[in-house]
Amino acid sequence: MKKRIFAVLLAACTVMSLAACGSSSDDAASSESTDSAEATDSGETGDASAVETVTEGKLTVATSPDFAPYEFYAIDEDGNPTLSGFDMDLAQYIADYMGLELEIVTVDFDGVLSELQTKSVDLGMAGLSPDEKRESIMDFSDIYYMGGQSLVTVKDNADKYNSFEAINKSDVTVGAQTGSIQLDLANENTPDADIVSLPKVTDIISELISGKMDAAYIETVVAESYQKNYPELEIVMEVPYDTEGSAIGVCKDNPELLAAVNEAIAAATEDGSLDDFIAKATDLAAGQTYEGLLDESGNVQ
Ligand code: ARG
Repeated sequence: MKKRIFAVLLAACTVMSLAACGSSSDDAASSESTDSAEATDSGETGDASAVETVTEGKLTVATSPDFAPYEFYAIDEDGNPTLSGFDMDLAQYIADYMGLELEIVTVDFDGVLSELQTKSVDLGMAGLSPDEKRESIMDFSDIYYMGGQSLVTVKDNADKYNSFEAINKSDVTVGAQTGSIQLDLANENTPDADIVSLPKVTDIISELISGKMDAAYIETVVAESYQKNYPELEIVMEVPYDTEGSAIGVCKDNPELLAAVNEAIAAATEDGSLDDFIAKATDLAAGQTYEGLLDESGNVQ
């Protein structure tokens, strides 16, 4: 079967990074996606494998693991930080779907944007909002997850910092992640606040808890996730945002890759894998083994 796919693809394409379907992997998510890969590759088009990537045979994905349950470090049984989250499981699924080996590059969130801009990676999977200001530096996949935005503070200040009016003052420190749409929301809704941008959401959480920061704009599901481990956090209000949902950032001008990513997202949605990844990541992020704060290099301690 491998040979047949190669032959078909080589006939169809001149310069391509190729890999046949069915790359082996031992986790449950991967074996499910292997089924999908076979289903697609043995189907009419086989297009999912006909993609050019930055490194032949690999799918290189940038992420910023400070964003549970999308991506974060969980501590495994041996005490080692392990890259986890539903974006990471979906990345593995997509790589398997295309018959490519997955390679993850971890950077701060603004680094995910620049890796895509410089075409150093194939995909950015970091709970990315398909913001139209980013359309000149990346293409966006279909939305794979819907989520909203929130204003977050700590329980002790929940009565004090509970509206835009309450925080829109120069003596109120309001945080958002560097390069994120949350920073735009901070600037749009509370321009008079002392707005501080930090490279990691986990830094923002620790500053909120230590009292260095009064409030922050954070995606709701992410705030809820950190709240399970840091119950002093309080979500005080929902923040309206017109482009809801998360998409995968795809290296620009690679329509075959974009199409294959969308096909894989549809398959993961249809076969229930994505729901499983979300449930698993949500549990893992809230579990005893999870820690995600305070290490300056971005790893858990
Ligand atoms: N959704 C927001 C954006 O696209 C924030 C994403 C932050 N992601 C992360 N892994 N820290 O701007």
